[in-house]
Amino acid sequence: MVCRGRVTKMKRAMNINIKRGGDDYFLNRLFSYLTSELEVEIKEITQLRGNVYLVETVERHFILKGYKDLRKLKIQEAFVSSLRKTGFDHSYRFYNQNKDPLHFHGSYYGCIEYIDHNEMRFDYGVQADREKGVELLNRFHDHTSVLVPSYAGMLPKTDLARKWRHRKTEFAKNLSGVNFYVKKAIIEEVLEWADFSLGNFVRLKSELETGLPVILHGDVAHHNFLRSKEGKLHLIDFDLISSGSRGYDMLQYANRILPYLDWQFESLEKISYLNKWLDSDAFLYGLLYPADILREWNRLLRNRNQTHPYSLAPIVEMTVGQFQQRKQFQEEVKSRLND
Ligand SMILES: Nc1ncnc2c1ncn2[C@@H]1O[C@H](COP(=O)(O)OP(=O)(O)O)[C@@H](O)[C@H]1O
Ligand SMILES: [Mg+2]
Repeated sequence: MVCRGRVTKMKRAMNINIKRGGDDYFLNRLFSYLTSELEVEIKEITQLRGNVYLVETVERHFILKGYKDLRKLKIQEAFVSSLRKTGFDHSYRFYNQNKDPLHFHGSYYGCIEYIDHNEMRFDYGVQADREKGVELLNRFHDHTSVLVPSYAGMLPKTDLARKWRHRKTEFAKNLSGVNFYVKKAIIEEVLEWADFSLGNFVRLKSELETGLPVILHGDVAHHNFLRSKEGKLHLIDFDLISSGSRGYDMLQYANRILPYLDWQFESLEKISYLNKWLDSDAFLYGLLYPADILREWNRLLRNRNQTHPYSLAPIVEMTVGQFQQRKQFQEEVKSRLND
């Protein structure tokens, strides 16, 4: 059913990308474009974030996600479809994969099955969710290991050390900005953790590479886990997939949940799928890298919205408020090293 020129009803989420200058205009045009290309009757388009939109049609909801590069979109579509063929059904599908790509305002758009979320959002603050999350991630790795031969060639190889080095360099350039909000002595110590961790991690990281490689998710933030209305947990957003040791996703996962564990090493030991990595010195050195502090300050100062108390407060909290716990964690991990 083709429906042109309907009155546009658009709801906008808070996170508006102002770079486009006039989002009403953009959403209006997108509305007309989708209506004509997909031949569906659209009721509403909501921007969820950046280039991700929720589209409500008369028949169903779907997610529209834009990529600057057609190759990136094609890799996403192929990967998600291959992943499902391995038997992993804890994610979405892409629709219209074999049709001409939707190309609009310089981006290529994929249409993604909508997962209606549960009122109980996935939350790293909830122990059962932390456990279910890592279990799902581990299952994802079991399935992606068979995809390595077909996908590794088109994906980057994980280089966590390189990423962390860049992050540290950017942070070092931002020091004067950070010092404005945090005592110098704290920042210096955080940087010492970063140097100590990185130096040793680089030296030993080949230890992590002994197992079979997998396709890594690369972004295990809580908002990439979605619990559906029926209560099933889904893993979404494969934009950062790469090939490498599953230890790298596990390190990222550990770093994400540690603030919720009050930086207690023993709590980490109780989590299956993570505990087996704690015998590896490379992994332990990796745990010492203050990945979140550096990432969040860099992001804040990059966006130049550091004066906004809502964005500043949680970052000061993770740096200053958690400082003693983090310091103790550093000592605890060092005492576990076999090195
Ligand atoms: N298939 C989906 N069903 C329901 N919500 C989704 C779906 N895909 C994305 N979202 C929502 O949109 C957010 C951003 O999508 P995501 O693909 O993770 O983009 P980004 O690369 O910006 O993180 C997600 O955190 C989730 O809340
Ligand atoms: Mg995401």
